[in-house]
Amino acid sequence: MNSELPVLKIGMLGCGVVGAQVARLLTQDADELSTRSLAKLVLARVAVRDISASREGLDPSLFTTDANSVVADPEIDLIIEVMGGIEPARSLILLAIENGKSVVTANKALLANHGDELYSAAEKKGVDLYYEAAVAGAIPILRTLRESLVGDHVTRIMGIVNGTTNFILTKMDEEGRAFEDVLAQAQSLGYAEADPTADVEGFDAAAKAAILAGLAFHTRVTADEVYREGISGITPDDVAVAKSMNHVIKLLAIAELTAEDHISVRVHPALIPRTHPLAAVRDAYNAVFVEAESAGELMFYGRGAGGAPTASAILGDVVAVARHIMKDSLGPRESDYADRDVVRIDEIRTQYLIRLDVADKSGVLAAIAQAFASENVSIQTVRQTGRGGDAELIVVTHSATEEALASTVKRLASMDMVRAVESVIRVEGVAQL
Ligand code: HSE
Repeated sequence: MNSELPVLKIGMLGCGVVGAQVARLLTQDADELSTRSLAKLVLARVAVRDISASREGLDPSLFTTDANSVVADPEIDLIIEVMGGIEPARSLILLAIENGKSVVTANKALLANHGDELYSAAEKKGVDLYYEAAVAGAIPILRTLRESLVGDHVTRIMGIVNGTTNFILTKMDEEGRAFEDVLAQAQSLGYAEADPTADVEGFDAAAKAAILAGLAFHTRVTADEVYREGISGITPDDVAVAKSMNHVIKLLAIAELTAEDHISVRVHPALIPRTHPLAAVRDAYNAVFVEAESAGELMFYGRGAGGAPTASAILGDVVAVARHIMKDSLGPRESDYADRDVVRIDEIRTQYLIRLDVADKSGVLAAIAQAFASENVSIQTVRQTGRGGDAELIVVTHSATEEALASTVKRLASMDMVRAVESVIRVEGVAQL
């Protein structure tokens, strides 16, 4: 039956871990994917940096180092971009769009920094730009936000969207190990890059948060508008305290509507109760927890990285886009009609856990409580553990602004009786000491 289908030629930019899986599945499942696409899908050309690298099972004549010739090829209808990075990916995608080709990309950094330019170019030219694989790998969260939840009002998204940091925090929690120790293990297992900055300092999650927030709140959000903190400062003591409170520390990507109908988008470590569904997301898995006015709470869970899981998301996009090309139509796209303001972190209200090393003598607790009260930060709970002449005070605040909390911490740090402010970590959900 497929021999009667019209041919739809695909060009691919990049052939690394993800590209190789896309090529494998396009070849292995050619008949079924073609039937679903209403067109015979043919991987026609693949642009790579090094043509001599061995790529088992793939016809060597497909490969070229001339990526411009792939996006300019009039025979090619659809481009898959899996090369990553900003340039030359940005220029090549713009050129492909200019040449009337629809594009499927997994490039979160590019979309989070230059999305506006790319979405506008695709809209103007009347082609599809699909990017399900850019956030949380195999989890179909972008289509869900763009299509399934388009009839609802999303109020909040809380995601674990970086597998490397979730792996590290899981091991710290379950095995009591230090950040550096688990990072080294993650690097040897291939979860973490030799330069782990993008993952451990939250840049990767921030790009994904920007994309999620944009779709959920019908507003263009860029990566530089996302407040970001990584996990390199989390200590075994922080993890142990969280555990003693029946909480777990996770790196969360949060996008939420504020009371003023603005949006807050942020990535930072936070304590969440062990009873929260996200607390059960272990190792390198990802999950996205969505709250919507009518739907209520939803959670999407799965593999956020890796060749085959990411290729699954890309092929879903390829089939959808191919169908649109065959029907001379376009898929639903992201919108920016709401154009909401992204608020500064200073204005956001959250609960905080503050660990203090203090002198254990009379009047200390009262003075510390006074420091919080002076900045209008209300204390929810305090717990004290003796340490010889010193004590550790664990304070959990009621919801307070970042600005008020920062002033409180400054005040505490300047007090003689406070030996050290050991850590300040946000708490999402209800804290129970
Ligand atoms: N490095 C990412 C992670 C996967 O650890 O989840 C790609 O975004």
